Amino acid sequence: MSIWNWNDHAISLSTLLAEATVSLTVAGVENPRLDARLLLAHVLQVHPNRIGLCNRFSLCANHQADFISMVVRRIRREPVSRILGWRGFWTLDFLLNAETFDPRPETETVVEALLEHVVNRDIPYSLLDLGSGSGNMLLALLSELKNAKGVGVDIAAGAVAMARMNAALAGLATRALFRVGNWGEGLGGVFDVIMANPPYIAESDICGLSPEVVHFDPRRALVGGSDGLAAYRAIAPSLGRLLSPRGVVALEIGQGQAQAVKEIMTANGLALHDCRSDLSGITRCVLFCRADRRNET
Ligand SMILES: C[S@@+](CC[C@H](N)C(=O)[O-])C[C@H]1O[C@@H](n2cnc3c(N)ncnc32)[C@H](O)[C@@H]1O
Repeated sequence: MSIWNWNDHAISLSTLLAEATVSLTVAGVENPRLDARLLLAHVLQVHPNRIGLCNRFSLCANHQADFISMVVRRIRREPVSRILGWRGFWTLDFLLNAETFDPRPETETVVEALLEHVVNRDIPYSLLDLGSGSGNMLLALLSELKNAKGVGVDIAAGAVAMARMNAALAGLATRALFRVGNWGEGLGGVFDVIMANPPYIAESDICGLSPEVVHFDPRRALVGGSDGLAAYRAIAPSLGRLLSPRGVVALEIGQGQAQAVKEIMTANGLALHDCRSDLSGITRCVLFCRADRRNET
């Protein structure tokens, strides 16, 4: 019996999992068994590692229907995080909607780099996140820097609404302000830490990305103009105005973009301070300080 015509029959969880795994494999899903387990665990409201303990049970009809509709969405290559509506990042969970970029593990490189850079975690730093999406980078940092405050800016109103909700859920709403805006435009004040994970895919490379990305991440979160660098060029001129004298800028970059981004930033009064690689060994984060600070003796 297949899960697609289970209706009047009790069907064991192991059969359900096996059938879903086959269907996801045929659809070209990268980790079919893992994804089937995650979806089933969600329906059962148990930790994915505990699915094995439930093998002898069967699902009620409603739960079977829920599971199958989720598998169908995954077959259409919707990411598990979007089906479940949330993504874990750093130590927090982030709700997602159609206007939020799905946070990636490599972006944790930026958070790690900034935390290593911070000398004293008790200082009341001011943080700025340009293109804040679900709020993941800013809120991850605020969760570690207990006296810091931050502003997140995004052009997508739906993403800003979601980030505000994520701040409230993480108990960080009193220290995080999210607003709709175009990069640093109209912002006043100076910040000790400025971070951005801007769209950095070249227009012509978009069609080569997986369906999970092309069809489900918002296009304006992905495309950085014809060469992938348009957002860095747009952000750079405001950094000198917004960065405090001893502040640091941390930018996520795409593979092979380090030199070009360095040139854009140095032309705008910044100096390269440090670079970090992600777990795949790709240079993923570049840090800058003010060029006039670097020349201090
Ligand atoms: C790659 S996503 C990063 C989201 C989040 N910071 C993260 O790391 O997961 C880029 C973000 O930049 C935002 N964005 C694109 N153009 C923008 C602009 N002109 N001003 C502000 N935000 C912009 C997008 O809406 C998107 O949320």
